[in-house]
Amino acid sequence: MSYYQVKNLEQYFKHYNKSIREPRKFWDKIADENFTWYQKWDKVVEFDMQEADVKWFLNAKVNITKNCIDRHLAKRGNKTAIIFEPNDPKEEAQHISYNELYDRVAKMANVLREQGIKKGDRVCIYLPMIPELAVSVLACARIGAIHSVVFAGFSASAVTSRINDSQCKMVITSDGGYRGNKSIDLKGIIDEALEKCPSVEKVLVVKRTHAEINMKTGRDLWLQPLLEEAIPNNVAEIMDAEDPLFILYTSGSTGKPKGMLHTTAGYMVFTAYTFKNIFNYEENDVYWCTADIGWITGHSYILYGPLLNGATTVIFEGIPSYPDFGRFWDVIDKHKVTQFYTAPTAIRSLAKENSEWVEKHDLSTLKVIGSVGEPINEEAWHWYNNHVGKKRCPIVDTWWQTETGGIMISPLPFVTPTKPTYATFPLPGVQAVLMDEKRNEIEDNQVVGSLCIKFPWPGMARTIWGDHQRFKETYFTAFPGKYFTGDGALRDEVGYYRITGRVDDVVIVSGHNLGTAPIEDAINEHPAVAESAIVGFPHDIKGNALYGFIILKEYGESRDRANLANEINQHISGHIGPIAKLDKIQFVSGLPKTRSGKIMRRILRKIAEGDFSNFGDTSTLLNPEIVEEIKNGRL
Ligand code: WTA
Repeated sequence: MSYYQVKNLEQYFKHYNKSIREPRKFWDKIADENFTWYQKWDKVVEFDMQEADVKWFLNAKVNITKNCIDRHLAKRGNKTAIIFEPNDPKEEAQHISYNELYDRVAKMANVLREQGIKKGDRVCIYLPMIPELAVSVLACARIGAIHSVVFAGFSASAVTSRINDSQCKMVITSDGGYRGNKSIDLKGIIDEALEKCPSVEKVLVVKRTHAEINMKTGRDLWLQPLLEEAIPNNVAEIMDAEDPLFILYTSGSTGKPKGMLHTTAGYMVFTAYTFKNIFNYEENDVYWCTADIGWITGHSYILYGPLLNGATTVIFEGIPSYPDFGRFWDVIDKHKVTQFYTAPTAIRSLAKENSEWVEKHDLSTLKVIGSVGEPINEEAWHWYNNHVGKKRCPIVDTWWQTETGGIMISPLPFVTPTKPTYATFPLPGVQAVLMDEKRNEIEDNQVVGSLCIKFPWPGMARTIWGDHQRFKETYFTAFPGKYFTGDGALRDEVGYYRITGRVDDVVIVSGHNLGTAPIEDAINEHPAVAESAIVGFPHDIKGNALYGFIILKEYGESRDRANLANEINQHISGHIGPIAKLDKIQFVSGLPKTRSGKIMRRILRKIAEGDFSNFGDTSTLLNPEIVEEIKNGRL
C-alpha cells in the first residue's frame, strides 16, 4: 500500500488541485500501485455524463476478494481480519485471521457454486451482523455473483420487492438474529417474503439462535453441513473492471426502491483509497464501524475498504444500549479500538445518558473518530469530541451516499482543521460544486446551493438495476452534465462544506434514508385511508422523525383515532419495516394542493416543524383554507 498521504493543508491543496487538473493520472497511479490485477486497463475512464454512462479502468481484469484476502496471506496470514463481537457480551468474541477468512470464503464460494450459483446471478443476503454475513458477501464476489444485501430489519414485503426487482436466485438467511434482549425470526420473514418470489430456487440457512423454524423441502438447506464438506480452496472468478459487484437498494423520493448497481474495479479503488486516508489507518490499528452491513456504510467501511487495506475490522452484532448504555465504550476498551465510526443518532442517544457510562471505560487507544449518515448537530459534535475523542481525536464528519460508493467530503485527520457540523473539504479526486437555482455553478464562498459532482469518480454507482432511464433522470438531468446528490449544502468563507439536508422528498431518520412516497403508498393501502402526506420534522435523537397528515375515508371517520393511528403504524411496519413508523399522525380533512393537484409539502413541513411564520407563496393553492385547519390541529 503506498497511497500518497497528505501531511498538511498545503499539501492537501496541492494534491487536490493536481487531482482536478489531471484526474486520469491521479486515479491511474492509485489503481496501479495498490492492487493485484490479472490484467491492467487500456483506458482509465470513459464517460458521458448526459447519458449517465461511466466506465473506469476499461478492460482491466480483477477479483476484489483476491485483493481483500489472498494477497494479504503471505504477510498477514495470521493477522486478525475480523473481530466478531456478539450481541451478548458474555458470549466470547471471535478473532478471524486472514488465513481463516480465506478458508471460510473459499468454502462458502464452493457451496454457492455447488448450489448452482454462477457469475452474474443475484443472491439476496438477509442476515444479522454475524461473520457469515461477511463471508457470504465475499463468497459472492469471489465467484462473480452479484450480492444484494437486504438489511435484516426490513419487513417481508420489502424483502419481496427487492428480491423480485433483481430476480434473485438464492437467499442466504439464518434461523434468527439477536438484537439486545430480543430475538428476531428472520427465517419466518423470509418464508413469508418468498411466497411471492418465483425466482428464488434455494435458501441457505445459518444456525444462530437455534430457534424452531420451518425448512421447506427442496428449497431450504442448512448451511453448516454444506460448509463442512466443502473444500477450503477456491479459484476466484476473473472479473472485468465493469462487471457488477453488488446491488444495494436505497429509497427514492418516488415509487419503488432503487437498486443501485456498483461495479468491481472502480468501487475497489475508491473504497480502499478513502478508507486509508480518512481513517489514517496503520498496520496494527483496530478499526470499528458500528453500521450494519445491510447499508452502504457497512459494505464500504466494515468490509471492503478495511479488508482491501489488510486491516482488522470489528463486526458488532448488538445495539448501543445492551446490556447497558456503556456497550460501545466497553467494546472500544475491550478490543483496543483505534478508529471508531458511528452515526449522529447513536451519538445523540448515548449523549442523553449519564456521562459515567463513557468515563468509566478506557478509550485511550482511539485516534480518529467518525460520523456518517446524517448531519451532526453542534451539541452532539461537542459531546462526541469531549467525551469520546477527549479533544485529541479528530472527528471525521464524512459526507457520502449509497450512490457515491465511498466518502466524498470529509476532513483528513490531523490535516484538515475540524469545524463542528462541517464535512469540510472534498477528497482529492472529488470535484464537488454548488449550483444555483438557474443551474449555474456558484464560484463564490459563503453561499448555499445544490450539491453536485462535476467529474466522475471511480466509486460511483453505474446505474439503477433494470432502469437506466430512472438513474439518468434522478441524478443527471437536474443539472445537465453533473451528478446531482439531492442534498443542499452551504460553503463557508474558506470553502468548507456543510450539508444542510435533502432537497427532495427523502427524509433521513436515524441515518436511514426513507422515501416518503413508498410510506404514503403503504398507508394508502389501509382500508380506512383516503390519502396521506408524510414529511420530516426535527427530532432530538433521530435527527428527523416522520409526521403523517392523513385523510380518512368515510368508513374510517367513525373509528377511534388512537386505534387507527396504531393500526396505520403496524401497517407501515409490515410493509416497510419498523424504522418507517410515524412519530405523529394528524387526521385532516384535506391537504394543501396546487391547481395541478400537487401536494404543497413545503407548507406541511413548516407546520410539522411548528414554524408558522412564513408559508411563502400560497396563491397557487386550490384550497388555502385547509392550511388554517391543519395548523390548528397540529400535534
Ligand atoms: C445524508 C449513507 C450530513 C445525506 C452513507 C445523503 C449526511 C444521505 C452525511 C445518504 C453527513 C450522509 N452529513 N448528511 N456526514 N452523510 N448524509 O445513501 O443527505 O444511506 O444524501 O448513505 O445521507 O444516505 P445513504
